[in-house]
Amino acid sequence: MSPFHITRILPEDAAGAALRADVLGGLHRTPKSLPPKWFYDARGSELFDEITELPEYYPTRAEREILLDRSAEIAAATRARTLVELGSGSSDKTRHLLDELSGLRMYVPVDVSESALVHAGEALIAERPALDVHALIADFTRGITLPDTPGPRLIAFLGGTIGNLLPAERATFLSSVRSLMSPGDALLLGTDLVKDESVLVSAYDDAAGVTAAFNKNVLTVVNRELGADFDPDDFAHVALWDRDHEWIEMRLRARTALTVKVHALDLAVDFAAGEDLRTEISAKFREDGVRKELAAADLDRTHWWTDRKGRFALSLSVAR
Ligand code: AVJ
Repeated sequence: MSPFHITRILPEDAAGAALRADVLGGLHRTPKSLPPKWFYDARGSELFDEITELPEYYPTRAEREILLDRSAEIAAATRARTLVELGSGSSDKTRHLLDELSGLRMYVPVDVSESALVHAGEALIAERPALDVHALIADFTRGITLPDTPGPRLIAFLGGTIGNLLPAERATFLSSVRSLMSPGDALLLGTDLVKDESVLVSAYDDAAGVTAAFNKNVLTVVNRELGADFDPDDFAHVALWDRDHEWIEMRLRARTALTVKVHALDLAVDFAAGEDLRTEISAKFREDGVRKELAAADLDRTHWWTDRKGRFALSLSVAR
């Protein structure tokens, strides 16, 4: 048996307190919004995995193509002994990297979803008995601390999840990642790229309705965790391209005027007919913008790779 540790940085009740604060703040604000991290309970994580296989949702396949092509280069450039993966989810694409990182001793998957970490961790240790896996249940948007790990470290943040953060949040996030790094450590960052609006909107509004179900799942999470009485059928799934900000927005639009009660918060929230609740932004990037955001966090971008169709990019940056 290889070592598998799981450490909870998020206290058991911290998630509950954070959800209460986000729901309270988000439903009182105009326009209404909820942060996307609450999509990912066990059901939401399953739905996300289904999304990654949809014909319209290209980012996962595009990123996998780059990882398959470039993992050997990434390994040569970083010689990482520790791989830290932020928002690791199923750790599925990471396997390509693990295959190539020959000097790797420790893998540190970090995720808010305990169920995803346990599933992924169990599968990995069965496949790779020599790998030391130290999973962290943590919210990386709140800043994390790492266990004592051998350097050089490669920190991977894949999938384009950085696009879920607003520009100012990205700056804070990249600086906090930089502060985890020592000279010689590297950051591997996945960013989805600006492209044709119709391609983008279809990726977030698929014909089979899986993304709609994923979006509405956040209401089920709030119902279960906070005793709310959202009826998901009262809301329509909306995906739109904001061309000024260059991000996709997912929203839930009230089909009629309605009132939702949130028992645990002793709260009643009114929605006007047609009122939107924003549930996610997913920013799309350009090469120069990514380089500048990295540089602002004192990260030096050394590599930029895209898939053959130019839809998605992986970049490698180093701390000097
Ligand atoms: C996991 C955050 C990268 O923004 O594309 C997929 C989540 N939302 N479909 C993304 C998502 C709707 C996804 N990330």
